[in-house]
Amino acid sequence: MAKKQNKTTATTATGIGQAQRLGIFGASGCGKTTKAREITAGLRRVVYFDPLGEWAREKGVIAYVTISKLQQALRRNFVQGFKCAFIPSFGEEESQLQELSRFLTLIQDGYASGQHRAQLTFVIDELDTSFPTGSMQKNRKNAFGFLCCRGRHYGINLIGISQRMHLVDNVFRANCSGIYLFRHAEPADIDIGVKMLGTEYRNAFKSLDNYQYIYKSGQKIFVKK
Ligand SMILES: Nc1ncnc2c1ncn2[C@@H]1O[C@H](COP(=O)(O)OP(=O)(O)OP(=O)(O)O)[C@@H](O)[C@H]1O
Ligand SMILES: [Mg+2]
Repeated sequence: MAKKQNKTTATTATGIGQAQRLGIFGASGCGKTTKAREITAGLRRVVYFDPLGEWAREKGVIAYVTISKLQQALRRNFVQGFKCAFIPSFGEEESQLQELSRFLTLIQDGYASGQHRAQLTFVIDELDTSFPTGSMQKNRKNAFGFLCCRGRHYGINLIGISQRMHLVDNVFRANCSGIYLFRHAEPADIDIGVKMLGTEYRNAFKSLDNYQYIYKSGQKIFVKK
């Protein structure tokens, strides 16, 4: 179906890209949205979960405030592609992220069963509001948690964005294939970052300026200053 592969995929020896899970974390104004915009710019099938309505204002992105209308649009444009933002209702972020996650899993069922190779990318801004710490303990069948663990089998790339890394459920962080750590302000977030990177990166991490980041993927760490 999709002729071009999503840029967030890594090509394996078999030529089949694995769907990725990327975390982008950092204090306000450090450049998270800009990084996510850069990553998704060339992609053909993207859904933004957009609590602040920021992505909805992007050129070429169509915004929805009801999941049913978004579902219709995704079904209609399944083959040719889509860039859609869903703006959840205030206070309903957790339940609506789950509802949307269930739907994305459903429409990507053909990928899981080998009928097509079209991946999609799901970008979740303000992830701490929709998948906060404790989500998986509260409900082990959390549909977004399922995407974190199994989404790659459905060709669903995830990009989670948050100012407050320690307030995002660990199931997302633990399943990330790559993490961009920008400048952080909160000690609790800095502690988690140092744990992820190793104490030898403490100074480099704490001295990051806006737009600078440390990228970690597996054992590889890259400092972008
Ligand atoms: N690499 C960069 N070089 C220059 N300016 C940048 C860079 N990255 C981001 N900016 C600018 O910095 C400002 C904040 O960037 P951005 O909106 O990406 O931050 P953010 O981390 O998403 O902030 P928030 O947490 O408030 O959503 C924007 O005006 C953006 O254009
Ligand atoms: Mg932002």
